[in-house]
Amino acid sequence: MVTIRAEIPSDFAAREALLNKAFGVKRMRKTSEKLRKGRLPAQGLAFSAINEKGKLVGTVRLWNIIAGSAGPALLLGPLAVDEKARGAGLGSALMRHALAEAARLGHGAVLLVGDAPYYARFGFAAGVTQSLHLPGPVERARFLGLELSPGALDGAEGLVAASGRLAEAEKAAA
Ligand SMILES: CC(C)(COP(=O)(O)OP(=O)(O)OC[C@H]1O[C@@H](n2cnc3c(N)ncnc32)[C@H](O)[C@@H]1OP(=O)(O)O)[C@@H](O)C(=O)NCCC(=O)NCCS
Repeated sequence: MVTIRAEIPSDFAAREALLNKAFGVKRMRKTSEKLRKGRLPAQGLAFSAINEKGKLVGTVRLWNIIAGSAGPALLLGPLAVDEKARGAGLGSALMRHALAEAARLGHGAVLLVGDAPYYARFGFAAGVTQSLHLPGPVERARFLGLELSPGALDGAEGLVAASGRLAEAEKAAA
């Protein structure tokens, strides 16, 4: 049995190892990483999936952004599931859990860069991001959005910018 729970600091090493395996170390060069670098995930919106042996087998995180003229929104990613745990619905469970929690917390829209054939099942589509731009190169067909609140991305245009809490500021305050 796998449990999805809020991420905790001691998940760090296992999460990073899973992400390196899933995406390779070049993942840090992605355009979406520019919106995450030096920031903390959105409050209450980072989750880990833990198997019956206590091993971290999945991760998903959301980040605060400004979606151009649409204003505050979230960036989802990375999402990854351990190779051995794939194909059993865990990726979907992580997505649904994260999106439900984002909606419960009052967020209106979520953007991501990823495979449309996978994310379409959760309602993500490229149409709503067509006039938005990321701070770097991206394949338009992979730049997707989902409205949690109807109309949240209506007429959205302009540059997407990071707006999350700075990781350093948080460390200094601790
Ligand atoms: C994508 C990922 C999170 C899915 O996790 P999972 O636990 O296997 O997901 P689910 O069991 O909920 O869904 C599996 C389904 O998604 C499909 N799928 C998986 N990756 C896909 C992709 N990149 N594009 C399209 N479909 C995909 C599978 O074929 C399977 O289809 P089926 O339901 O018709 O059999 C996992 O494969 C993973 O970590 N991949 C590497 C990292 C990655 O690519 N992350 C995000 C995608 S950009």
